[in-house]
Amino acid sequence: MSAERTDLRPETGAFFQRDRSWHPPALTPPYKTSVLRSPQKALLSLDNTLSEITGPVFGHDLLGPLDDDLIHNFARPGESAIGERIIVYGRVLDERGKGVPGALLEFWQANAGGRYRHKKEGYLAALDPNFGGCGRTITDQDGGYAFRTIKPGPYPWPNGVNDWRPAHIHFSVFGHGFAQRLITQMYFEGDPLIWLCPIVKTIPDKAGIESLIAALDMQATIPMDARAYKFDIVLRGRRSTMFENRLEGN
Ligand SMILES: [Fe+2]
Repeated sequence: MSAERTDLRPETGAFFQRDRSWHPPALTPPYKTSVLRSPQKALLSLDNTLSEITGPVFGHDLLGPLDDDLIHNFARPGESAIGERIIVYGRVLDERGKGVPGALLEFWQANAGGRYRHKKEGYLAALDPNFGGCGRTITDQDGGYAFRTIKPGPYPWPNGVNDWRPAHIHFSVFGHGFAQRLITQMYFEGDPLIWLCPIVKTIPDKAGIESLIAALDMQATIPMDARAYKFDIVLRGRRSTMFENRLEGN
């Protein structure tokens, strides 16, 4: 920032135009379900109402003590989930690189064998009786967050003849109101399946894909316990994380 800046209005009011070339087109036939899910007619732009943007809100008192620990939040007392123990951490950042405090993060994932705990899940891998697969946390004053989990396994899915999802964790980010919600996925550094995945391939820019890959961070590991992966989520601007959805009207 220039030292000669005289306009002292808050910078957070700046408008950053959405870069449509950064996000995948809605219709990407190699990802088969996009054919039926993508709009068939021209889009309408709807403004958010005030109540959608300003409320309701949530607070730390709504979170349980194990909500940010997927290793234990579904486990029987004294037991823990099977798998590679990891910490996922990072910051939620605005378009200027400033931390976003008070954002509700929710995350869900398959277990170490690549199986979800869901009634429609059909993959033959075993369920882990001590692993549920979802959790949540709220960013701190600097936009920081962290949670413990096990590394999810890849899983096959009915798209092409032999398509596999790379290991991934789904993220939902809420702002200060429930209409401010963005959804994305985090992948793991070094996974060869990332570059073979038909869903990942819908992202037009290689840098966009790389923004979804968490880096192994040995500095943040807990020795003899868990390795750490660092994943920052950038809400807008040129370095924006690639989101699966966008707010209406943006
Ligand atoms: Fe998934």
